[in-house]
Amino acid sequence: MTDANLAIIILAAGQGTRMKSATPKILHSLAGIPIVGHVLATAGALDPAHVIAVVRYERDAVVATISDLMPTAVIVDQDELPGTGRAAELALGALPDGFEGEVVIVSGDVPLLDADTLTELVSAHRAASAAATVLSAILDDATGYGRIVRDTDGAFTSIVEHKDAAEAELSIVEINSGTYVFNAAKLRAELSKIGTDNAQGEKYLTDVVALLRQAGSAVAAMPVTSPWMVSGVNDRVQLSEVAIKLNELIVRGWQRAGVTIVDPATTWIDLKSTLAADVEILPGTQIKGATDIQTGAIIGPDTTLLDCEVGENAVVKRTDATLAVIGANASVGPFAYLRPGTELAENGKIGTFVETKNAKIGRGSKVPHLSYIGDTTVGVESNVGAGTITANYDGVNKSKTIVGSHVRTGSHNVFVAPVRIGDGAYTGAGTVVRKDVPAGALAINVAPQRNMTGWVETNRAGTAAATAAADAGTDTD
Ligand code: UD1
Ligand code: CA
Repeated sequence: MTDANLAIIILAAGQGTRMKSATPKILHSLAGIPIVGHVLATAGALDPAHVIAVVRYERDAVVATISDLMPTAVIVDQDELPGTGRAAELALGALPDGFEGEVVIVSGDVPLLDADTLTELVSAHRAASAAATVLSAILDDATGYGRIVRDTDGAFTSIVEHKDAAEAELSIVEINSGTYVFNAAKLRAELSKIGTDNAQGEKYLTDVVALLRQAGSAVAAMPVTSPWMVSGVNDRVQLSEVAIKLNELIVRGWQRAGVTIVDPATTWIDLKSTLAADVEILPGTQIKGATDIQTGAIIGPDTTLLDCEVGENAVVKRTDATLAVIGANASVGPFAYLRPGTELAENGKIGTFVETKNAKIGRGSKVPHLSYIGDTTVGVESNVGAGTITANYDGVNKSKTIVGSHVRTGSHNVFVAPVRIGDGAYTGAGTVVRKDVPAGALAINVAPQRNMTGWVETNRAGTAAATAAADAGTDTD
């Protein structure tokens, strides 16, 4: 049920300079969705009455992504005044007049924080009737973070930014995670008072803690039990660290759900992919996008599947596939490349060094070796010979090849599309199929073979080949 007294503000205006990227930091992908998408999902799980995102850097791209993922999110543009305090101030202005509830503030670049932790923070804040509750963390290396300053009784008094910290404060290991719950009215009152007299010349949101305390309000800092949850992504080193942690959690989740994952460290599974119990994933495999894998399937080693469907008991070995459907009991690879629009029906086979695109291969049909099959339909129980190429492109148009059911095509054929091969037809080895083959016919168009007897002994006299030929005796046919 929507919490009418809850608003969540997502701070997402920062430039993310340390990423050194043309792409805004929070749009970088993490387990198949943008970093900010993780934050939006956590915010959405609390079912707040209002979600407000503050944007500025690469505003249009950031807004497009946020609006796509959460159409109800209200967008607020930060002005030229810098700082998290300014961002929060502008966001508060977008709340309806008279909103008196709690405001949760999170950073768009902290993707692993989960909804349970945030819910607990809100509950603790409400139970204590606090004005501010800060989610903190105890870190081995607190470098760069704002520090939680406590007095001799251990009471939380203020936050000091790393760049402004005195020598003694730098040794504090409890840090500000950048996640907070505030009483809306009290936050509004104190934000109007904060200045920019600090090392970065910014309005620091963190300065309101000391002001609230001076005003006699209760402030609390609650350490998170798992510090990795509040890891921020500020550069690409942290992006990979966060990705490894998230992948570890995703892999473990599927293992607990009955999936065999032989090597978690080299198996990458996107958040939106789904796997049934008794799927087996071999090392070096990436399951990406909205891939769905049914029970009994064996995937890998060294396989990448993006937005694919894999049926029960299929085996997919050393394969790269995008937007492909692989039927039950089908076999793919090793070394297959399945491009979008590939649909391999049950018991079918796409074998070694085969590339397919827009290819519907019917039940029990096989393309076992060294082929390119594009813009093609194959019926049921047909076999496409080794080394077959569908010539689907004449330089201007793409055309279709239609192969019927129970067809046997010879090795090293070229199907020059558009062309049809009827049910039960055969083609000879090396045939260049330019005309339709009627059902049940054998098509051959290779010139008859001519043997010029004795050619080597006459034209290559004295070579090893000539000697070998002489030793073998002259063939008379
Ligand atoms: C901030 C905190 C610091 C905390 C750390 C945790 C302040 C002053 N400091 O520092 O105490 O330990 O997060 O990760 O808040 N942003 C805006 N507008 C701005 C500036 C930033 O929306 O003008 C957004 C950023 O996009 C980001 C978040 O606020 O999502 C935090 O900003 P960042 O510059 O990363 O702050 P830190 O220096 O990490
Ligand atoms: Ca940060």
